[in-house]
Amino acid sequence: MTFNEKYSEYTDKINTALEKAVRVSDEITYRAMAYSLLAGGKRIRPVMVMACCEALDGDMELALKYACAIEMIHTYSLIHDDLPCMDNDSLRRGRPTNHTVYGEAQALLAGDGLLNLAAEYISGEEPHNAEKDIRAVSHLFVSSGALGMIGGQADDIFAETHEASKELVEKIHHRKTGALIRAAGELGAIAAGADAGYFRDYTVHLGLAFQIRDDILDVESSAEELGKSNSDADNNKATFVSVYGLEEAKRRLEEETDKALDAIKPLGEKGRFLSDLADYLLKRSK
Ligand code: IPE
Ligand code: IPE
Ligand code: MG
Ligand code: MG
Ligand code: MG
Repeated sequence: MTFNEKYSEYTDKINTALEKAVRVSDEITYRAMAYSLLAGGKRIRPVMVMACCEALDGDMELALKYACAIEMIHTYSLIHDDLPCMDNDSLRRGRPTNHTVYGEAQALLAGDGLLNLAAEYISGEEPHNAEKDIRAVSHLFVSSGALGMIGGQADDIFAETHEASKELVEKIHHRKTGALIRAAGELGAIAAGADAGYFRDYTVHLGLAFQIRDDILDVESSAEELGKSNSDADNNKATFVSVYGLEEAKRRLEEETDKALDAIKPLGEKGRFLSDLADYLLKRSK
């Protein structure tokens, strides 16, 4: 099976499960949640959960449950990231942003709804494995919490109005984006009954590489191509491009990708999809 075929196999399962999870009510909050959750998106984090679990011959039903939960958290973070009080963006996943359609208050609540749903889903959805489910919730919510993704978003906003050092931009990227990518590896490992830190080196380097690529695309690509607004310069964001310059950002992207590839080497053939994934993320155009 090719990389693309395997990727589609994962995303088909993820998208079917997400539809089922979010199409449960006609209430406005559920409609707004579904609007963003089912708008497409690359599904990188849930795919990583599935692929990390499969690389360790783990429980793929449990991995699918955790995969959906992480995509719910990620999508809530995008809805909030686009709000006027944050990045103030109008396009996301090829559609008008959530608040553009539903208004700010409803978009805020749709994000909150998805955040809650992630915990509801792990605790309420089959299959259950009490010990693994508790570890999964703990890792997912610590990573996305105030010392992880939320802390990174807070520093990202702070840095708009303060001189950003190289140390600060690295810290922002490791937390606002890296934390959830690390969590994807942790959830996959937990579903497989392994140590949660099994994929740590791979995911730390891939998480940083992922946000560096995002920063580069923001300046080199267009909103039409990306399917989302590119507003970093307008917002005076501290990015790898603004702090290091484009050439150094590209060099670091390659370096971090190489380190991720090195980290996955010991898995040999079992890690092939994960190494192909790192290559795909290095070159991605959206
Ligand atoms: C966008 O994430 C936000 C960042 C952390 C850079 P993705 O690039 O994974 O967005 P989708 O899920 O494909 O829309
Ligand atoms: C967003 O970073 C990170 C999170 C949503 C947690 P960006 O603000 O760079 O993401 P995009 O470019 O809007 O997707
Ligand atoms: Mg942002
Ligand atoms: Mg943004
Ligand atoms: Mg960005």
